[in-house]
Amino acid sequence: MIPFNKNINKIKTYEPGKSGKINTKLKNVKLSSNESPIKFSKKTLTKINNTSLPLSKYPDSKCTQLRKKISKLYKIKTKNIIFGNGSDEIFFLISYCFLNENLEGLYSKHGFLIYPIAINAAAAKCVYAKEKNFKADVNELIKKSNKNTRICFIANPNNPTGTYLNINEIKKLREGLPKKCLLVIDTAYAEYVTENDYSDSLSYAKTRNDIIITKTFSKMYGMAALRLGWAYCPENIAKTLNTVRPAFNINSFAQKMAINILDDNAFLKKSIEHNLYWKNWLSDKFNSFGFKVIPSVANFILVKFKNSRQASKLADYLEKSNIFVRKLENYKLNNCLRISIGSEKDLKRLCSKVKKLLRK
Ligand SMILES: Cc1ncc(COP(=O)(O)O)c(C=O)c1O
Repeated sequence: MIPFNKNINKIKTYEPGKSGKINTKLKNVKLSSNESPIKFSKKTLTKINNTSLPLSKYPDSKCTQLRKKISKLYKIKTKNIIFGNGSDEIFFLISYCFLNENLEGLYSKHGFLIYPIAINAAAAKCVYAKEKNFKADVNELIKKSNKNTRICFIANPNNPTGTYLNINEIKKLREGLPKKCLLVIDTAYAEYVTENDYSDSLSYAKTRNDIIITKTFSKMYGMAALRLGWAYCPENIAKTLNTVRPAFNINSFAQKMAINILDDNAFLKKSIEHNLYWKNWLSDKFNSFGFKVIPSVANFILVKFKNSRQASKLADYLEKSNIFVRKLENYKLNNCLRISIGSEKDLKRLCSKVKKLLRK
């Protein structure tokens, strides 16, 4: 047997949100992957339908047009941008470039599951810090860091808890981490956040050389299927990540689509409004059912149950009707379920099913 790196067998395969028809007569209600339920505007749909691409040609490896567009929109230099096949790919690129078996990668206990996978894949020691009330704890993260900690991953807001660190807490974290530790702030859900003390930290990152900000087109931009993420990086880091990046990691259609979506203001406005309204609606419903809802600033809610049996029973019951929510054992949250903010119709169907179960 040829040995793998010694951490590979510590990796639990990432399990995507469930879907697929259990009962073939019923429509699928997928509320397990935090995808957007909003349709693009007519204008964008027409552009998509009229898009013709030379399929025999490789995509633009540098994503030139999209790069320029993002650079203008976010007021950052084109050389500070790196693209990934989803932001997931960027977490791996960062881990491969900065970690090795003598170093450590740090994240928060209920943080996004791709971080420990990427850290272990790079053979480094994976360390997590405890959370307080389902929220990353800056003091604990700092306490768990040491001279070997080379990356700290933080999702802000976090999936699956839906909680966030305000900009002062982010600054405190950065200041408290060792100088040689890179802070990676994953802002996959930033566009949904309306709280005044929240920032995607991009302005702050621009003043330093030790922060990466990652973003995605998979959530509010509704392009999960096309796999497109990007990151703001200090120039030297962007340059290095680019040297290990698969050359054609962003397909031509994703590049075209992203350029169109960034202009679809009606779609973006609708996405935020829908999310705010139905997140409050769903939270109220689950509170009224007698469950505890952890306040979320993202496009999903976290519901806490009496115990793991109750959480699991509800998810299994819903599944029988093709309604899929996310179980969270892999996130060390056995007594919780995560539910995405889907369409009005899907959320109403979910709630009427839960009500039915409670009546039994
Ligand atoms: C916190 C967080 N970061 C990143 C991602 C992955 O995004 P992408 O689709 O860009 O790989 C997700 C997906 O669920 C997420 O929850």
